[in-house]
Amino acid sequence: MTGPAARAAWLREQLALHDYRYYVLDDPQVPDAEYDRLMRELRQLEAADPQLVTADSPTQRVAGSPGAAFRAVAHTVPMLSLDNVFNEEELRAFDRRAHERLGEDAPLTYVAEPKLDGLAVAVTWRDGLLERAATRGDGSTGEDVTANVRTIRSLPQRLRAPAPALLEARGEVFMPLAGFERMNREARERGEKVFVNPRNAAAGSLRQLDARISAARPLAALFYGLGRIEGLAAPDSQQGLLALLRSVGLPVSKEARAVQGVEGCLEYYRDLGARRSALPYQIDGVVYKIDRRSEQERLGFLSRAPRWAVAHKFPADEALSVVREVEFQVGRTGTLTPVARLEPVFVGGVTVSNVTLHNIDEVHRKDVRSGDTVIVRRAGDVIPEIVAVVIERRPPGAAPVTLPQCCPVCGSVVLRVEGEAAARCTGGFTCRAQRQEALLHFASRRALDIEGLGDKVVEQLVERNEVASPADLYRLSAAQLAALPRMGEKSAANLLAALERSKHTTLPRLLFGLGIRDVGEVTALALARHFGSLEALMAADEDSIQRVPDVGPVVAAHVAAFFASAAHRTGIRALQEAGVTWPDMVPQAAADGVLAGRTFVITGTLTGMTREQAQQALVARGARVSNSVSKKTSYVVAGSDAGLKLAKAQELGIPVLDEQGLRDLLR
Ligand code: IVH
Repeated sequence: MTGPAARAAWLREQLALHDYRYYVLDDPQVPDAEYDRLMRELRQLEAADPQLVTADSPTQRVAGSPGAAFRAVAHTVPMLSLDNVFNEEELRAFDRRAHERLGEDAPLTYVAEPKLDGLAVAVTWRDGLLERAATRGDGSTGEDVTANVRTIRSLPQRLRAPAPALLEARGEVFMPLAGFERMNREARERGEKVFVNPRNAAAGSLRQLDARISAARPLAALFYGLGRIEGLAAPDSQQGLLALLRSVGLPVSKEARAVQGVEGCLEYYRDLGARRSALPYQIDGVVYKIDRRSEQERLGFLSRAPRWAVAHKFPADEALSVVREVEFQVGRTGTLTPVARLEPVFVGGVTVSNVTLHNIDEVHRKDVRSGDTVIVRRAGDVIPEIVAVVIERRPPGAAPVTLPQCCPVCGSVVLRVEGEAAARCTGGFTCRAQRQEALLHFASRRALDIEGLGDKVVEQLVERNEVASPADLYRLSAAQLAALPRMGEKSAANLLAALERSKHTTLPRLLFGLGIRDVGEVTALALARHFGSLEALMAADEDSIQRVPDVGPVVAAHVAAFFASAAHRTGIRALQEAGVTWPDMVPQAAADGVLAGRTFVITGTLTGMTREQAQQALVARGARVSNSVSKKTSYVVAGSDAGLKLAKAQELGIPVLDEQGLRDLLR
């Protein structure tokens, strides 16, 4: 072979090698662009002379036109499924039975592997060339998905030598999470239907009649089993099998590992479970396989599953439930949050009966309606969510959810600011729900920390009109409290003592507890440090509030608006009259600011800002501002008409900044 034919062969070999390094060894040798360049060159050669095209050419992954249907493929060796265990006890029972059957006392060696959440496939290579791929089907007959499986790039068209004369490997086709999310994002942008999970996406993609569509889907495959092998002895262990699969160029899970006995299995299970959400693909459990083939053969099969392997499932993270209704909850700042009340369902290890839908746009996007059957998901410790509605099960007449025009609690008008996702009740403190939430927030641990003032008590107090504002809490009597349901004299006394204790608080706690929109603990602390006293903050305008580190225009506007309200000012005065105190703070340099540890002296006249503003901006970034120049001065900022201080700085060799220099530094 010479000329173009030799070049084409070389290109095919190179491309196969790069695929192997990338997909199997996870150690690419060349950048993607180089791969693309080689592929382009091969395509050009093949286009110029179609006789150069070979069956295993990487250009031929997507060949042919849509088939009418998938042909049936009989599995010479049946494709089995696995028995499941759901807890340690069931796993121990499995292990005990294996020991008994084998008459073996010593701990068994298992190979533990992730249980991939995709579709089982059987793929055959004859004389090293990919010949056929089939789905599991019913275990004895599957469907021919060769054209589609060929499009999966992690799957070699030709095995690496020395390859057995015939190899039927078993593995899983799945869709990695990143690809799944990208595909759904693109589908959403085009206004198309999205897949509910990676498994469905993989199944849908593999069963595309048009391989060109499969080719565009980000599918991957990992191999873990053997169907048939000819021309080479079958490996005598699962470890040996995985090594063989890898050596002929098939992708094998990097997580597969040999472990000793049940203890080793459990350790693996806990470890993989903890890392589950960080894996690039979805798994629904762990598979343990007795390593030695001789032992596998002695144990054999029971109906459809081997006695030498078992799946240890993670708690299901998706389940079906029915939406009883969609309600709107009113939060502390009046936000209306739609919440789906569900038939209780056990998912991800807990019982879920309420799921937030965040805002009305989300409700409409997912089109959740009362009566709908929905897929509920709770992965790891993430809050549960509704993944999708099972439209086929929607009861007739189910109406779309609409945003209420009036607050469901107080009846005030509900407003939705243009461009904002949240809709709000305009009732403010007149809304019982907002009052209740505001009081709970005020009493919470990181605010005034009033122990024993939980939601039940607050709800009662608000309902009975005994408390409307935080200051009212401090006027409660022992008798009033003791009269509440489930509140004895002892707990009433405890609560009074807690209220008394909470009167000595701090400025940051108070600011946080007031419940100003968007003012969390961190912002409260920054405001307190910057202004030093509540009076100073209340006197500040929006602009000066914005100069507090990390406070942007939106938060500054909320803070200014809060203190501009007469009701809020009255409420604060009432707190002071009730005996709540908080010591002022020394307006402090932010110890963690970018200019921490530097000392500045400002002299002369600045034009674009006042000296005070310059000083505040420096302090906000952690700097100290001093009046006199010394060896310890880091910078002198000199405006126009700077006099003696500038001269002194020059004498001591201290860096001098002009106004622009200061601006640059502040930026
Ligand atoms: S071994 C005879 N190993 O789980 C053994 N299966 O519930 C048969 N699966 O149909 C399968 N990861 O689709 C095996 N590491 C793994 C697996 C795995 C996922 C799937 C496979 C199988 C199903 C059985």
